[in-house]
Amino acid sequence: MCGIVGYWGPVGPKKVIIDGLRRLEYRGYDSTGVAIFNQKTLQVLRSPGKLAALEERLKGIEFSGPSGIGHTRWATHGVPNERNAHPHKVGPIAIVHNGIIENYAEIREMLIRRGDKINSDTDSELIAHLLNDELKSSKGLLEATVKLIPKLKGAYSILVINENEPDTLVAFKSGTPMVVGLGEKEVIIASDVQAIIEHTKRVIYLDDGEIVCTQKNSAKFYDIHGKPLDKKPVTLNWSTQMAEKQGFDHFMQKEIFEQPRALRQTLEPHVTLNPYSVNVKDLGLSESEIKDISRIQLIACGTSWHAALVSKYVFERLTKIPTDVDIASEFRYRDPILDKKTLVIAVSQSGETADTLAGLRLCKQQGLKTLAICNVPHSSIDRESHGHFYTQAGPEIGVASTKAFTAQILSLHLLALHFGRIRGSLNADQISSYTQDLIKVPSQVEVCLNHDKWFKEAAEDLAKYKGFLYLGRGICFPVALEGALKLKEITYLHAEGYPSGELKHGPIALVEPTMAIIAMCPQDDLYEKNVSNIEEVRARGGPIISIGTENDHTLEKLSLHFLSIPKAGWLTNPLLSAIPIQLLSYHLAVALGRDVDQPRNLAKSVTVE
Ligand code: F6R
Repeated sequence: MCGIVGYWGPVGPKKVIIDGLRRLEYRGYDSTGVAIFNQKTLQVLRSPGKLAALEERLKGIEFSGPSGIGHTRWATHGVPNERNAHPHKVGPIAIVHNGIIENYAEIREMLIRRGDKINSDTDSELIAHLLNDELKSSKGLLEATVKLIPKLKGAYSILVINENEPDTLVAFKSGTPMVVGLGEKEVIIASDVQAIIEHTKRVIYLDDGEIVCTQKNSAKFYDIHGKPLDKKPVTLNWSTQMAEKQGFDHFMQKEIFEQPRALRQTLEPHVTLNPYSVNVKDLGLSESEIKDISRIQLIACGTSWHAALVSKYVFERLTKIPTDVDIASEFRYRDPILDKKTLVIAVSQSGETADTLAGLRLCKQQGLKTLAICNVPHSSIDRESHGHFYTQAGPEIGVASTKAFTAQILSLHLLALHFGRIRGSLNADQISSYTQDLIKVPSQVEVCLNHDKWFKEAAEDLAKYKGFLYLGRGICFPVALEGALKLKEITYLHAEGYPSGELKHGPIALVEPTMAIIAMCPQDDLYEKNVSNIEEVRARGGPIISIGTENDHTLEKLSLHFLSIPKAGWLTNPLLSAIPIQLLSYHLAVALGRDVDQPRNLAKSVTVE
């Protein structure tokens, strides 16, 4: 989604803003722009396409002022062209915006009726017109912003600058994220900490309905009515290095290979070795609250939803708590029936996904306990939940989620074991055995990664197929869904994920030699049933690429490509099967020349509905 960066300080706004926008490229965008002080005027330069096109336009321009704002746009209202790119300047005001203004049509009509010239198709430009109106009767940008806010409806954030106040930046958050970085002699306001961490680790997150007004390097915070607020900074522990490619060709590839470390870091704080057990620390849920849970409701989107689906099998088997999993955008509009003893778990890598956040808020309004499984500490979903479990995957930059997926599955496994121990649904031997299985996961993932050469060979062979059917059963069915999603996202080829048992109820009609079947078939309690389904596909000429347990010669004989994972327990199979499906998609996308890290039309963090 849109990226926002604003800067005041000695380094030179052009460099800081462009570097910041580059760090936000991973979020997905289609046009860019800046408004930076040059002498006493705010110079606006915008360009469709990638940041490199804007940099070309900025070449040779020396900006002499102390401040500026910049933007990467992911189009909502109006096609991605220069006219619709941000910033929008009206009078002395320049504005960048993220989110959607819902009363856009009526504002536009009012402005046109009174004779304003509207230059773009965006809702964002309209904000600049209204703010310019307010500025005429205000002492400055802060007062004008306070007067503007009641006129706008929707979930949005803005960052504004005024030609007559070069040392001032004002931002407002209502829905989409906004963070203020406080350096020694500089201040950066951005929609994502990635644009800030190179300069300072001291940051203050705006909550919904809050305004920040910076004067040189001091920042003051206000509520929606302009009443001062006291907000404390937090210190980030992510480094810029964690968000670099470090010798890999793509962020996605680096993140796939980081999984042993990510999983180890997610696991280690919560396991004990003598006895082998799981004790999740700092969850924010007491033992009596855990014993009291009557139902678990998970909400998530995309890949995080697939991780949540895996956990349904695990929670129900290990804790005996009835568990439901909903896609957040469906959950929030289906009038869910929730009793007070339901624990709501929101699963999100970014912690900013608009639908997941809205689902969480709905549950909180009904008085339910909520728990966030997030990869980004201090993100909105994390801040607004009662309890917290952090996936320790580190920054995920590739748009296609990989290390966050396996870290989420592992986190949910750990929670299930923790709940099972506290509620007595698991005995000490079961806890010990499952814990030992999980401890082995990082090194078993390393073994899978060592097979990359074979996964690459298989992937390159897949380019000839016209479609892909991913099959799995039980705990590995959601991995089939994830395999199909990964393939669609980064190769733009059509793929579907199905439970193997559903095949005969429809999708088997698709089976023919040009439709590749990718079957998850580890040696678990459903193995024989899976093999029968594979036989049915083979009998109809479907080419099989199987993911199975090492030395499974039966499966190997049935398959065109047999991708092996180490022999492992029930809980571990989805984690290991994830590695070949990620690498198959990655290598096929590279072979097809796709933009692996920034696939078309996609955004890393979906902050609008
Ligand atoms: C797929 C992908 C998306 C996200 C989804 C939810 O590779 O990355 O499907 O999983 O947008 O995002 P988070 O987890 O940040 O809530």
